[in-house]
Amino acid sequence: MMLQRVVTPEVLDGLAAHDPAAMRSRRDLRRVHRAMRTPSIMLAGLQDMTLWRREVTALRVLELGAGDGSLMLGVAPSLARSWPRVDLTLLDVQALVEPATIRRYAELGWVARAAVTDVLDWAAAPADPVLRGAPSARWDVIVANLFLHHFEGTQLASVLGAIAARTDRFFACEPRRAWLALAGSHLVGALGANAVTREDAVLSVHAGWRDNELSALWPAHGEEWQLDEYAAGLFSHCFRAQRFEPA
Ligand SMILES: C[S@@+](CC[C@H](N)C(=O)[O-])C[C@H]1O[C@@H](n2cnc3c(N)ncnc32)[C@H](O)[C@@H]1O
Repeated sequence: MMLQRVVTPEVLDGLAAHDPAAMRSRRDLRRVHRAMRTPSIMLAGLQDMTLWRREVTALRVLELGAGDGSLMLGVAPSLARSWPRVDLTLLDVQALVEPATIRRYAELGWVARAAVTDVLDWAAAPADPVLRGAPSARWDVIVANLFLHHFEGTQLASVLGAIAARTDRFFACEPRRAWLALAGSHLVGALGANAVTREDAVLSVHAGWRDNELSALWPAHGEEWQLDEYAAGLFSHCFRAQRFEPA
């Protein structure tokens, strides 16, 4: 029997950034990522992307729902071999990125900054509100981890539409909506996760993705985009959209 997709607001999203339970849950998330092998899944998904030109300027990367920025920081040392110069914007509705995290990116040669913005405002703005004033108002790559599953319906359509309009490459690593992942989500307590993480893990799987669901929702089909959607590891579901290079 197939699990139907059900989106329910997550507990963490309702807590203030400095609520002790929220802070603990974000630390739990790092352990959950290690168990899910998210860093290596993300690295593989990003390294496989086709960059059309050797960037003279830094690669402009936007992470949506980036949290405290620690997940990308874990991937950056390996990614830096193929992406030596990166200008990274970590967008999240909460102010979670510590100055120490920005400094650690700088040690890798990456310029990182936080953008505290609701993605729905970002998507609804007629021009990218984060890039306003930039010489070229486009992102080379947009990334999202454990993020798209928060949305459905018109909100999701708006976010995907804005992504497709503002970049040529998008990669998302999401919860897989499958029985094995659901069983795993009930076991995150074994990693020492608190009540917030335990509840959100289960909600995330119910709101997750399977098969080609994200490809079907991608706003621009046809010849313009190459879409890849695949199961990764035991619990993850990835989606990658790359615009074909113009002739
Ligand atoms: C499950 S956490 C994932 C964090 C990070 N991507 C990771 O994988 O470790 C989801 C993140 O999305 C953020 N978020 C939720 N709704 C948002 C919105 N409407 N706009 C921007 N960020 C949002 C939350 O604040 C949270 O940091």
